[in-house]
Amino acid sequence: MKIAVLYGGISGEREVSLSTGKGIIEALIHNGHDVIGIDFHPNRIHEILDLKVDIVFVGLHGKHGEDGRIQGLLDMLGVPYVGSGVLASSLAMDKSKAKQIFYQNGLQTAKSISLPVQLGKNAHTMVEEIKQALSLPLVIKPNQEGSTLGLTIVNTEDQLLPAIKEAMSCDSMIMAEEYIVGREVTVAVMGTQGNEKALPVVEIIPKNEYYDYESKYAPGGSEHVCPAEISKDIATKLQRDAVLAHQLLGCDTYSRVDFIISDKEEPIILEVNTLPGMTPTSLFPDAASVIGISYEEMVEEFVRISLD
Ligand code: DAL
Ligand code: MG
Repeated sequence: MKIAVLYGGISGEREVSLSTGKGIIEALIHNGHDVIGIDFHPNRIHEILDLKVDIVFVGLHGKHGEDGRIQGLLDMLGVPYVGSGVLASSLAMDKSKAKQIFYQNGLQTAKSISLPVQLGKNAHTMVEEIKQALSLPLVIKPNQEGSTLGLTIVNTEDQLLPAIKEAMSCDSMIMAEEYIVGREVTVAVMGTQGNEKALPVVEIIPKNEYYDYESKYAPGGSEHVCPAEISKDIATKLQRDAVLAHQLLGCDTYSRVDFIISDKEEPIILEVNTLPGMTPTSLFPDAASVIGISYEEMVEEFVRISLD
């Protein structure tokens, strides 16, 4: 098959995507496909049409890649692509909108408020609003970002203002969320729409205080325990919630759903990643390998499902 792999791009997660793209390209070549890698910038869209590929594998992360924009362009060009479509991608990228959907459908979420900059709020008024609505410790993050970019864990009130400014440098909407003490886990989901399966739960044990950018991507930055050493009950609940979250947003082919298991043994959903990292330190390939699916087989399966 002739496959274009889009990677790199212009988002804050460009570096991560360079690594994801390399992995996907190597796997597809290994599988015998004719692969064209494109470090994607919007002005390269015509190349995709000219190449007359059978399918596009989107290996981008973050804004302009994971948020539905490139998926919309490909839809309009009539070019098939791997993974979720426009709406699911946009919803998953918008943490606030996705949380509303999860909450309305009975999934447990951390208490949070969203603060759009457009409504004339500034960082100082946001501090007051957050203090009134939520209690410390908090997570302050950009509404639409990935890889913990712009995210700060706030333990004291004086850390709020710099944390808000940091998040505002990434996005025009920020989210303040109560910090859930517990174990960080993630569940990979794959399959055709309506027939998705959850892979074994992965627990993340970061070397740093939390699973930050360095813990995510530096070799040895975190330990992944898969299957996670948790009770069968909670594992089943996490897997069920992960598939439900994937389906509620209308995701397609694959996603990875992040949770905290609270001290009360409850799964608290954080977010769905429609284009989860596929780097050498990434979680999805680790979960697949535990059930005997190699990286190359996983990528091939995504292509097969997408053309189904
Ligand atoms: N946003 C990164 C790529 C992930 O979730 O894996
Ligand atoms: Mg993410």
